[in-house]
Amino acid sequence: MHFPSYGKLKFFVASVTFVVLLTWLFLIVGNLENGRSLLLSPCLVEQSMPRYLERDTLELRMREVVEENQQLHLQLSQAQGVATKAQDRNYSNQQWVASADAGPEDGENMAEEPSNQGGNHSDCVHRPMVEKCELIHVACVCAGHNTSRDVVTLVKSILFHRRNPLHFHFITDMVAHQILSSLFRSWMVPSIEVSFYDADELKSEVAWIPNKHYSGIYGLMKLTLTKALPSDLTKVIVLDTDITFATDIAELWAIFWRFADKQAIGLVENQSDWYLGNLWKNHKPWPALGRGFNTGVILLLLEQLRRIGWEQMWRLTAERELMSMLSTSLADQDIFNAVIKQNPALVHQLPCFWNVQLSDHTRSEQCYTEVSDLKVIHWNSPKKLRVKNKHVEFFRNLYLTFLEYDGNLLRRELFGCPSQPSSESIRLQDALEELDEDDQCYDFRRERIMVHRIHLYFLQYEYAPTEDDADVTLVAQLSIDRLQMLEAICNHWEGPISLALYMSDAEAQQFLRYVLASEVLKNRKNVGYHIVYKEGQFYPVNLLRNMALRHANTPYIFLADVDFLPMYGLYPYLRKSIVQLDMAHSKKALVVPAFETLRYRLSFPKSKAELLSMLDVGTLYTFRYHVWTKGHAPTNYAKWRTATTPYKVEWEADFEPYVVVRRDCPEYDQRFVGFGWNKVSHIMELDAQEYDLVVLPNAFMIHMPHAPSFDISKFRSSSSYRYCLTMLKDEFHQDLSRKYGSSALKYLTAERNI
Ligand SMILES: *[C@@H]1O[C@H](CO)[C@@H](O)[C@H](O)[C@H]1NC(C)=O
Ligand SMILES: *[C@@H]1O[C@H](CO)[C@@H](O)[C@H](O)[C@H]1NC(C)=O
Ligand SMILES: *[C@@H]1O[C@H](CO)[C@@H](O)[C@H](O)[C@H]1NC(C)=O
Ligand SMILES: *[C@@H]1O[C@H](CO)[C@@H](O)[C@H](O)[C@H]1NC(C)=O
Repeated sequence: MHFPSYGKLKFFVASVTFVVLLTWLFLIVGNLENGRSLLLSPCLVEQSMPRYLERDTLELRMREVVEENQQLHLQLSQAQGVATKAQDRNYSNQQWVASADAGPEDGENMAEEPSNQGGNHSDCVHRPMVEKCELIHVACVCAGHNTSRDVVTLVKSILFHRRNPLHFHFITDMVAHQILSSLFRSWMVPSIEVSFYDADELKSEVAWIPNKHYSGIYGLMKLTLTKALPSDLTKVIVLDTDITFATDIAELWAIFWRFADKQAIGLVENQSDWYLGNLWKNHKPWPALGRGFNTGVILLLLEQLRRIGWEQMWRLTAERELMSMLSTSLADQDIFNAVIKQNPALVHQLPCFWNVQLSDHTRSEQCYTEVSDLKVIHWNSPKKLRVKNKHVEFFRNLYLTFLEYDGNLLRRELFGCPSQPSSESIRLQDALEELDEDDQCYDFRRERIMVHRIHLYFLQYEYAPTEDDADVTLVAQLSIDRLQMLEAICNHWEGPISLALYMSDAEAQQFLRYVLASEVLKNRKNVGYHIVYKEGQFYPVNLLRNMALRHANTPYIFLADVDFLPMYGLYPYLRKSIVQLDMAHSKKALVVPAFETLRYRLSFPKSKAELLSMLDVGTLYTFRYHVWTKGHAPTNYAKWRTATTPYKVEWEADFEPYVVVRRDCPEYDQRFVGFGWNKVSHIMELDAQEYDLVVLPNAFMIHMPHAPSFDISKFRSSSSYRYCLTMLKDEFHQDLSRKYGSSALKYLTAERNI
């Protein structure tokens, strides 16, 4: 061995690669925690309960190790001589073993690794509570838009701390199902499985129970989990959606091993005095043991519950109690408590820090001495964030942290656990491998295949189809710097709107606050807001357009931009035109002529006549008149001035009008990112598919002034950006010819002649 000392040895580890070091660190810390808190044997439970001090020591130790490693990393960057990659790998393998054997202070815990090699002293000591890579099951009832947002924050807090693969079981209505399934598919977090169960099918199980709680019928569905979840699922952690984790969920999962013989339900005591029945005069709560239990966090031993006939049990209890109580006040919680009062042996009481309940009249502060002891915080919405508690500031920060935490960071691999990659991630991997890293336009091409995390219908959305089957949705995309346009657009367009918003997690929260503070927006329910989370370096304009287009719920769509205001009355006018021009049975793209103003304060023209006179005095121009006339010239503004009936125009190179089409129109080509050619390519494809371009004589929209977007400046200043755009255009032309044959050659020719 040519490493003279342990310190030097560690230095070597560091100098090989920092990544390996982190891995190693993870192993040690992981084992410390696994060893001390997760591998508690059932026999040692009682002794090991008060371990807050150990936890602090552990945190301290962890911090020390991290600092130590930062030091080593610093030395590394100064050290000369860089090991080759191949050597790295060999060293890392050796050190892995070496450090696992060598760390004297960790030795005892190492021995308790689940691998279980070596002699088994007593079954008791060595039985692991949560195996490395053991799959942990979590169930959650989620319905509606608001709750779906809450679930994301809960899931983030779980993912942030977790070290095990997870399987989420969501009982959802249709709304939450759509939102969460697309979110998880696009999130692509490794080692996560997600299953959905239809809440509507479970409704009949609980609909007969009168309930006064705000959670409504969905709150009661936790009672049906033995039936709703797969029959081979033996245990599950059940969580309310207004929960935030401050620790690894595996610690909670480990408690299942502490259940005594008859115990089947793990719960924390209700921290309010509700069930004591002394809150007000004649206050008569449901029967409960003492203060009762809170069902925000439940450990359900499903197999045991099925064995003892849980379904019968809770039904009988509910029927009996309802004879005198008439309805539940706290939904499932009342019934759980009544059953437990009847069968106290069922319950395994969890330490209160597993469900620190924030609401009025609670004793949550008595539950813990140090904030660092907290493991799970339960907000008890709708009072959320407005409770009185001496640590409420800390709680709020914890919550806000996860609310705004970049979900992309949670895509990291679970170290050391084999995982089944999703079909989505395999496809991405394959696509990435096909790219040539030396290609000058690699960044552009990579951007095209990137999978962005999406959260559909971020806010409450309601839409009822119209009878005439001619309804039209305004489709647009934006980033946070255009939010101020939304109110005006809503004032000009009363019909449905589908918007894709390109934002970070933090910006999405800013956006939410913005909408809730706006009288115009908060009362508008027919706007679908779809968040596409930021990633990469370009604005993925066509991906956004497609996202908004796909989630329009009307047969027709108006493909607009967010910095335009439609004329007043455009919505009813379009619906009328759609019928008159028989859009249902013909391939047409109705052109809405575009104008622009350079004035921030414009008195918006109320009619075509008013618009024409404003054009004449130079208050308005035809769109891009000064910089890019070609974009809209084929609209033929001269003809439009006097037109009273719709007229057909021919496609020309670089034409990019705003059009109304059937929803089954071709999508935008996602290779065009950032600025340039994103609409032009779409209109070209419409033309290739032989859409008639028909200009509407009494429609108009006006572009409002704003600072130039970031991507335009990049385009103007970068020659490689322009070069790549040309490359992408050429490739688009080739694809067009492949798809539409020789007729598509005209686009190439037209392009050359410019
Ligand atoms: C790494 O180890 C393998 C086998 O353990 C050996 O064949 C290979 O030569 C080693 N590479 C280096 C660079 O030491
Ligand atoms: C360990 O336990 C298993 C089963 O409990 C037993 O078969 C085996 O002989 C034990 N090994 C030692 C080394 O005691
Ligand atoms: C969702 O949240 C908004 C804003 O907080 C609220 O106005 C609305 O009533 C909530 N919707 C439901 C169904 O709870
Ligand atoms: C306990 O009872 C209260 C009633 O004051 C109820 O609002 C709450 O959901 C229950 N659990 C708590 C305080 O977490």
